[in-house]
Amino acid sequence: MPETVRVNLPGREYDVRIGPGLIAAAGDHIAPFLKRSRVAVISDETVAALHLDSLRDGLAEQGIAMQSLTLPAGEATKSWGPLEQSVEWLLDQKVERGDMVVAFGGGVIGDLAGFAAAVLRRGVRFVQIPTSLLAQVDSSVGGKTGINAPQGKNLIGAFHQPALVLADTSVLGTLTPRDFLAGYGEVVKYGLLGDSDFFEWLEENGPALAAGDMDARVEAVRWSVQMKADIVERDETEQGDRALLNLGHTFGHALEAATGYSDRLLHGEGVAIGCAMAYELSARLGLCSQESPSRVRAHLRTMGMKTDLKDIEGDLPGATDLLDLMGQDKKVVQGQLRFILARGIGEAFVTADVPSEAVLGVLQDALRDKG
Ligand code: GLY
Repeated sequence: MPETVRVNLPGREYDVRIGPGLIAAAGDHIAPFLKRSRVAVISDETVAALHLDSLRDGLAEQGIAMQSLTLPAGEATKSWGPLEQSVEWLLDQKVERGDMVVAFGGGVIGDLAGFAAAVLRRGVRFVQIPTSLLAQVDSSVGGKTGINAPQGKNLIGAFHQPALVLADTSVLGTLTPRDFLAGYGEVVKYGLLGDSDFFEWLEENGPALAAGDMDARVEAVRWSVQMKADIVERDETEQGDRALLNLGHTFGHALEAATGYSDRLLHGEGVAIGCAMAYELSARLGLCSQESPSRVRAHLRTMGMKTDLKDIEGDLPGATDLLDLMGQDKKVVQGQLRFILARGIGEAFVTADVPSEAVLGVLQDALRDKG
């Protein structure tokens, strides 16, 4: 039996089912939601090559037919062109209001297909089958869907909750170690933002989990998803607490923009470095002891992850330019940048009260260290 986390949003409740073998059993899980035995699946080339046949077989076991659209892998797919292509394809497949769209892939496909489902006929239900660790612990849960704009990431979108999430932990074994660890950046984020017990558990179990221990993987995904569900239930549309999930993202998004959203820095890697920098900033502002950022960095290093700006290959812009890039963040309110800072491990909070000189100081020192 898979683990189940229930997301209790009134009128839009859904299960996140977590465990190995869920793709092979997709038909059993999805059939109760269908009015007719067919689904439209949106995927990418990498995931389709590895897992689309298993999904087709899993659905066929319950007599569910499947049409699929396969898009190029990568962040560039989260844009207007592929969105238009997806919506028109769904219309060509004659997907109706009562049908189900399946988002089968990592965060890019989940966000894009979820948004296509949100705007198709003013809203069609969809299932998330996340295939990356990052998507399993974060982007597939909570209903954020959308695409990127030239002005910044995720600036166009809608809240559209899935009807079901199937997080098949056996597919994590097909990720490259780099992609796995990038997703692990988001797992660490949960411990740091709200649960020091979880962070301690990760310090103890992180290496086994990275080495492939399935029970540890299921537990890490379950714990992360439970924390996300609790936050989303309190604040679905990010008026308050949900912003905590952006710990590490203000620095991270600026670094991603500075590296051209390229292979130089994956999203989860930016989040991990960003978490370390947010803790560094918190320590400098006297909010937490220096031990906290040291402990964050020590764990990331033990896991073999990028921890500092010096771990990013190639040149970076200067501190002032990085600060400007932060100004493009969605979390800017009335021109003021909001930061997620921390009073200790597991004790994050949202604040707009951060002197830009302090942020500049952290960036300048990290850049100096990079040399
Ligand atoms: N990934 C952040 C959120 O879902 O709010």
